[in-house]
Amino acid sequence: MSFPRKLVVGVGGASGAPYAKRLLDHLAAIAPEIEVGVVFSKTARGIWAQEVGTDPRDLPFPVFGPRDFGAPFASGSAGWRHMIVVPASMGGLARIAHGISDDLLTRAADVVIKERGTLIVVPRETPFSEIHLENMLRLARAGAFVVPASPSFYARPTTIDELVDTLVARLLDRLGIENDLMERWGFASSRSEAPAEETL
Ligand SMILES: Cc1cc2nc3c(=O)[nH]c(=O)nc-3n(C[C@H](O)[C@H](O)[C@H](O)COP(=O)(O)O)c2cc1C
Repeated sequence: MSFPRKLVVGVGGASGAPYAKRLLDHLAAIAPEIEVGVVFSKTARGIWAQEVGTDPRDLPFPVFGPRDFGAPFASGSAGWRHMIVVPASMGGLARIAHGISDDLLTRAADVVIKERGTLIVVPRETPFSEIHLENMLRLARAGAFVVPASPSFYARPTTIDELVDTLVARLLDRLGIENDLMERWGFASSRSEAPAEETL
């Protein structure tokens, strides 16, 4: 997998807008050399307002709406080969999995798949239906990485930001962007009073 020169961050209409906000803040801080473009789905703006509350226009990157097909990453010719959809709704994921490019977010994902780039989708729903799981399998078979919005607790996060960062760290890892957003397994665990496996 190549290091991204250009990266699309698609914000879909699922709960989990704070994951996108933290990812974008960290990208601006630790990877300023990457050209980032942001696209919101139709529903995502309202969810962002509810869960994050800031104005998307204040983000440190250009922000596009669902009908902005003039965005460079709407075409394969512009050379955008990396995309993260975070969070991904089941509706948006289904449309990507079936090649239904009816807004800029799904079109950008379609472009990355057809150009055999790196597509990372971060689905958020519970429980998953058989249809959701089949669509995720379809995307994985098309070469996408399905990275569920499943934060971890072994680094003992004490704030929501720290908890969110346990997922964001894994997204940056997937792109090959070095980060120290979370304490990695093997540091805290070797120092902790956690019982040895055989005593559990
Ligand atoms: C407040 C709110 C929260 C939602 N949360 C989820 C969710 O967590 N997962 C999901 O699959 N859909 C969720 N939905 C439904 C999707 O937004 C809806 O199906 C939408 O059409 C998905 O398409 P989009 O991602 O292109 O916006 C939510 C909708 C609203 C209004």
